[in-house]
Amino acid sequence: MNKGKNILCIGAGYVGGPTMAVIAAKCPEYSVTVADIDENRIKAWNSEKLPIYEPGLSELVKKVRGKNLFFTTDIAKGIKDAGIIFVSVNTPTKTFGEGAGKAADLQYWEKTARAIVEHAEDSKIVIEKSTLPLRAAEAMHRILHSNTKGLDFDVISNPEFMAEGTAIDDMHNPDRVLIGGMESPSGKKAVKTIADIYAHWVPREKILLTNVWSSELSKLVANAMLAQRISSINSISALCEKTDADITEVAKAVGMDSRIGPKFLRTSVGFGGSCFKKDILNLVYLCEYYGLPEVAAYWEQVVKINDFQERRFVKNIVRNMFNTVAGKKIAVFGFAFKADTGDTRESPAIYITKMLLEERADLAIYDPEALDNAARDLKDVKGKFELVTDPYKCAKKSHAILILTEWDEFKKLDYGKIYESMEKPAFVFDGRNILNHRELFEIGFNVFPIGSTKMTHLK
Ligand code: NAD
Ligand code: UGA
Repeated sequence: MNKGKNILCIGAGYVGGPTMAVIAAKCPEYSVTVADIDENRIKAWNSEKLPIYEPGLSELVKKVRGKNLFFTTDIAKGIKDAGIIFVSVNTPTKTFGEGAGKAADLQYWEKTARAIVEHAEDSKIVIEKSTLPLRAAEAMHRILHSNTKGLDFDVISNPEFMAEGTAIDDMHNPDRVLIGGMESPSGKKAVKTIADIYAHWVPREKILLTNVWSSELSKLVANAMLAQRISSINSISALCEKTDADITEVAKAVGMDSRIGPKFLRTSVGFGGSCFKKDILNLVYLCEYYGLPEVAAYWEQVVKINDFQERRFVKNIVRNMFNTVAGKKIAVFGFAFKADTGDTRESPAIYITKMLLEERADLAIYDPEALDNAARDLKDVKGKFELVTDPYKCAKKSHAILILTEWDEFKKLDYGKIYESMEKPAFVFDGRNILNHRELFEIGFNVFPIGSTKMTHLK
């Protein structure tokens, strides 16, 4: 067996599954195994209904599964057989002890290091694919070299930059692939091995080689700067609502400056997703740890503005619906943290629905892909809510519609028909600014966009 051509990925989640499917498809001479402790997840990866929804993923997996892509719970065998091990386990925010609420919880990641030490019979390249705090590779290196079998390991940082909903496209056409390695001869050789895998489809000039620490830090900084742009535009949306400026026009005017650029300036109810908040808080924790409180406070503000934007959205609803939503049916369109994914981790919808349930609103929730996850998220939440599989039923007899995810299908609904079925006055709070507000107003709705003047028929 040529172990150098055997890749194992530990962690079959949103990153492990799609990235390994692309590597398997692009590198037919490699055998790629994805292993996880979660039996149900592995069963789903081996079934017709994959555990995650991602455009293009299902077709890709069908093409390579059973040929050179395998899903298993046998982590020990996976480790023994592989020469290259990617680690893409979850690294959530710590909820206990030192650094709780900010630092990364590294227990899952450390367990994989220990499993590698336990089961490895020869030297291997170990790649950090998970997003980790600065200098985590050093800790990984130490744990791996605590083995008493005389084995050597090269640890490499290769953070993932794909976004959910576009994961397969992002993997196929990345802006860059970042590989951070050690300076030693074997470190350099390991970097070359990993770069050669990506070079099957990524142009060499897009494969960026750095030292390990730059690579680890760049991942946190990239997410922090993307989220910072959203918080910047969201903070200005609040000012627009007070001044009759229009956030869409402002974002366009600002983004046309080629030094600023147009991307990630879409105002919203707030950013969600499993990573932005956790990675910024991790950065904040690192800055505090290294004695840089001013830098920590600067980045923490990005998260604070996001919380402010979510709270502001709910306050706006309650205030404009005559200061009470108690007992009123409100239709929530969208629960996923963004369109084209069923993922609801840290979705603004979770916070907004919880706040509205505290106000005793009666919620009906519709999402084309995220209702199973929504059921899980709201399992222990008190209050009256139902999950509905049809948007028209969801809106029927409601007082208001909230747009919380930018699904395309929400733009195509028959709002005339929806308006007829609703209680009056009928409200739309467009938390993603995706609908035609003038048209809705003309139908009869009272329309509340984010970051521009409301349109109401109320005297
Ligand atoms: P995820 O929760 O979807 O998947 C992680 C998987 O690891 C789970 O299935 C879990 O069961 C498994 N796991 C945990 N401990 C294990 C162990 N000891 N052995 C085997 N399997 C184990 O997480 P994800 O979204 O794929 O994210 C993984 C990492 O990638 C995180 O660090 C995240 O910050 C980073 N990241 C995520 C994205 C994204 O879009 N989701 C993008 C870039 C980077
Ligand atoms: C983000 C980054 O874009 C990826 O590069 C990174 O790899 C990933 O985090 C990660 O580390 O997990 P993701 O969270 O999947 O990807 O999705 P984004 O498209 O970045 O959107 C994040 C949130 O910001 C969503 O809630 C989205 O609706 C919101 N958003 C995005 C806005 O509110 N406005 C925008 O202009 C853009």
